Amino acid sequence: MKRAVIVGVYGHVPDYVLTNKELEQLVATSDQWITTRTGIQERRILKEANAATSSMAIKAVEGLLQKTATDPTDIDLLVCATITPDVVTPATANIIAHAVGATNAFSYDLQAACSGFLYALDAAAQYIVTGRVKKAIVVGADKMSAITNYSDRATCILFGDGAGAVLVTARDEAEGHGIVDTLCKADGAGQDLLYVQAGGSRCPASYETVRAQAHYIYQQGQSVFKVAVTFMAQSVLEIMKRNELTAEAIAYLVPHQANKRILQLVAERTMIPMEKVMLNVHKFGNTTAATIPLCLWDYEQNLKKGDKLVLTTFGGGFTWGAMYMIWGYDAASQ
Ligand code: UT7
Repeated sequence: MKRAVIVGVYGHVPDYVLTNKELEQLVATSDQWITTRTGIQERRILKEANAATSSMAIKAVEGLLQKTATDPTDIDLLVCATITPDVVTPATANIIAHAVGATNAFSYDLQAACSGFLYALDAAAQYIVTGRVKKAIVVGADKMSAITNYSDRATCILFGDGAGAVLVTARDEAEGHGIVDTLCKADGAGQDLLYVQAGGSRCPASYETVRAQAHYIYQQGQSVFKVAVTFMAQSVLEIMKRNELTAEAIAYLVPHQANKRILQLVAERTMIPMEKVMLNVHKFGNTTAATIPLCLWDYEQNLKKGDKLVLTTFGGGFTWGAMYMIWGYDAASQ
């Protein structure tokens, strides 16, 4: 039997740093409120004219290919998780694959909001395990500033732009590395609590939709907060139970980064100490599909071959889940 294993990770965030102090100039908020309620201190914003989600994703994938000495024509599949595609069609994944020279890859976008990366990694892993695909790239990328209303203090403090990418290949299960188990969940009952109203087929873009600010992301923060804590903790506990994993055995919890308080509560409920929780929400905010690969990129040097990681996520839809993987390489010695 084969297992899909991550053999490289790379990320890209824009240079522009949007601080809490700058947000104080835009809306009625304060650095203190944002820091204590969310843990976010700053986020990166893509400012260049005509720059899109693919602009960041291409840099992440180019860095990944270079770092892993991979010929782009050896890539069989490229999946891009995003809710902010460059255009409605074609897929941002097609744009990325073309730009990096992945001419033998089939490529598509996957939309599962903040759970997009976990869902996309799971999808790519299935292709790898069956042998249909030898090398896959999974990208999580979002230009959240494109759908953020900078006059709404309830949302504009939360989001940032960024992209992360991983290279996935197959290894024999006997080697003891790779993705062991995945739990993907969804419930459309949450559709009215976190959404973008206009721009789709139900409510296409018009003068009225723009005037009504209906192209921006909206969420009922408190309700989403509670469900996020409950479902992230539940899915981590379920994946721990069915793989007989103790909190001590886990090297890192790799959670979607929406709010530091959510992560503290998930850590408490799963009895995983905060020192083992990957955190970068303070510097990047919520980058939607990019949070998990950006965390892996940030912490890569700390990861050792054989480390047991549990990824977990929650996002619009609702969508959520968890994944148990055994890390496959020592970045520090590469
Ligand atoms: O990634 C996808 C999943 N998304 C999430 O997981 C996000 C989940 N939600 C959250 O992270 C939090 O709910 C927020 C950070 C969005 C909001 O924090 P909260 O502690 O739930 O605040 P709240 O919405 O209950 O608002 C508390 C108060 C309100 O004032 P009153 O009614 O008590 O007078 C808000 O109007 O804080 C006020 N408020 C603000 N004050 C200063 C809301 N936003 C701000 C702000 N600055 N930016």
